[in-house]
Amino acid sequence: MRYDRGRHTPTAAVGCNMQNKTFDAYADHYEKVLNRHLPPGMEHADFFTQKREWMHLLIKRFFPLRSNLKYLDFGCGIGSLCEAMIENPHVSEIVGVDESSESRRMACERISQLNQRPGSSQKVGFQVYEKISDLPAGAQFDLITAFNVFHHITPKKRADCAQELTKYLSDGGILAVWEHNPWNPFTRFLVRICPFDRDASLMPRSQAIELWRVDDLELQINEYINITPPSFQRFKAVLAIEESLGGLPLGAQYRLAFIKTNKRVLDERP
Ligand SMILES: C[S@@+](CC[C@H](N)C(=O)[O-])C[C@H]1O[C@@H](n2cnc3c(N)ncnc32)[C@H](O)[C@@H]1O
Repeated sequence: MRYDRGRHTPTAAVGCNMQNKTFDAYADHYEKVLNRHLPPGMEHADFFTQKREWMHLLIKRFFPLRSNLKYLDFGCGIGSLCEAMIENPHVSEIVGVDESSESRRMACERISQLNQRPGSSQKVGFQVYEKISDLPAGAQFDLITAFNVFHHITPKKRADCAQELTKYLSDGGILAVWEHNPWNPFTRFLVRICPFDRDASLMPRSQAIELWRVDDLELQINEYINITPPSFQRFKAVLAIEESLGGLPLGAQYRLAFIKTNKRVLDERP
């Protein structure tokens, strides 16, 4: 495994970073804080499982034959999704970006422990950086996620941040975004009481789509989710309701997936 501990040292904050590293204070009990602010019967683990399963599905749908995917998790937090993607046989390299040094430290520790487990056969390269602009020039990723991050970036800085992220997406690559739905009153309530969402400014889906409305990106998946809590969706009838109402702005979250088509090259072909 290539594990670059050095790169997780903090560097100066520039670009689209916000000023305070809110998540430093919560990194070591992130999941507990989330659970404390969820109503009885709802658990952070259920929401996380949903994200993980969607990632596996995206990989299956868009990269069924690849075994060397480079994956970038923007706002990787304590590394939960990176850790989950280590198990995916299509992924060979994982890079996390997070402005919180404490979160980066925990992400590194988790991945390192996972790779050192006796019998661990999967050796996936892992690196973390503080900012997108710290990524090596010319780096390209097949899969980029920005899950529950953009509502922590001030609206004025979002366009630059989105553009910067898109630069690192390879042709044919997928950019996946997961965000809270501001039209859902229950979501707004939970965000209001969550201590690390104090800086949050929720981003409507239309704004997210606008951020990535550029020539070479095509929207492939565009759906609201979680009208009901994720744990209820193991019941077929509930899942059917969820799936049929995914186009309406009712769900607690929404998710989008864009593909980079490199239209310019296609248009220039004789
Ligand atoms: C709510 S957590 C989400 C963590 C993870 N993506 C998930 O879905 O569980 C948001 C994370 O984004 C990070 N973050 C916020 N703004 C950022 C920025 N401008 N650059 C890098 N990371 C950022 C925070 O430090 C935090 O770890």
